[in-house]
Formats: sequence, C-alpha cells, structure tokens
Amino acid sequence: MPTLDLSRRVLVASAAAAALLPLRQAVAQTAAAKGDWLSMIKAHHALIAKSFDELMASEKRTYLQRDRLIRAIGYQLTAHSVAEENVIYPALAMAGMTSESDKLYLDQAHAKVMNAQMEMATRANREGKDWMAPAKSLQAAVLKHAKEDEEGNIYPKLQQKLDAAMNKMLTADYQREFASVKPVRAAAG
Ligand SMILES: [Fe+2]
Repeated sequence: MPTLDLSRRVLVASAAAAALLPLRQAVAQTAAAKGDWLSMIKAHHALIAKSFDELMASEKRTYLQRDRLIRAIGYQLTAHSVAEENVIYPALAMAGMTSESDKLYLDQAHAKVMNAQMEMATRANREGKDWMAPAKSLQAAVLKHAKEDEEGNIYPKLQQKLDAAMNKMLTADYQREFASVKPVRAAAG
C-alpha cells in the first residue's frame, strides 16, 4: 500500500535525522492521520499536550534532558503554527470568519513570546526552577487556544462552511506546510 510505504520512509528518515521520541511521534502522527485537516490538527494538539506533560514531569531531570524537551516543544509548536497561520487562519478569513482568524493569529503571537520566555528562563538558570512559571503559562495558553477555541468552536464551524473540495485542499496544504518546518533546533540538541 503506497501510504504505508510512505509512512515507513518518513519514519526512517526522521529517525536518522533526530533521535527524539516526540519528533518521531509528530511525523508518525502526521503520516497516520489520513483523515481530514481537523483530525490531523487534533493529533498535533494531542502531541503538544503530551510533550508539555513530559516537561512538567521533568523537574528532577538534568538541564540537558529538560532542554531537549523544551526544544522539542518549540519545534512542534513552530511546525503546527506555521501550518495554521499559512493555511487555516487565512481560510477562516476568506470564509468570512475574520474576527476568529484575527484572534487566533494574536493568540499564537503571544504564545511565541511565552515560548521565548520559557527558553530564556531555562538557559539563564540551568539548575533552578525559573523555567516552570513560563512553561505553565505557555501550556495553559496553548491548550486553551487549541482545545476550547480551535477544536471546540471555530474549526468545526469552518469545516462545515467549506465544501468537500476546499476541505480536501486544506488537508493537503496543512500537511505540506507542517512538513516544511525542519527540526533543526531539536536536532541540534
Ligand atoms: Fe492549533
């Protein structure tokens, strides 16, 4: 089956590029999500939520282990946000949902600031717990944005507004944009 072959090739390439479990999961979930763009996005939201859980459970780990988790989250958020900002939010605006589109862009801009604060805090104080407060703020903001606003309200409305051909186009475009972000930061470990 072509899809399975493609999945295997993507997984092998990913494993060679970076031996990060969250990254392999991201690629596997992207390849496995054969459904529509919304189910693909839900899989990515779930992956990001799981990565935050791992980070929050990492209090007793070394700085390098924690830094690797933070870099993995940075990659997942960046790949996901690029795909949403280049494909899904423009589709919202074109479907007449401009205030929803604006709100999601703004949320995501704030999340990028919080992500930078988390990264700075963990580097500035390697042994301390300065990273926890910004990490918790980012986790709460990202999950509210993803679960309540996107999954719970705005995305199902968009999916219903669009016809089958448009939904199919969004699925292909989201996948292409997600894959365009390479895990350079995570691989640099
Ligand atoms: Fe999202």
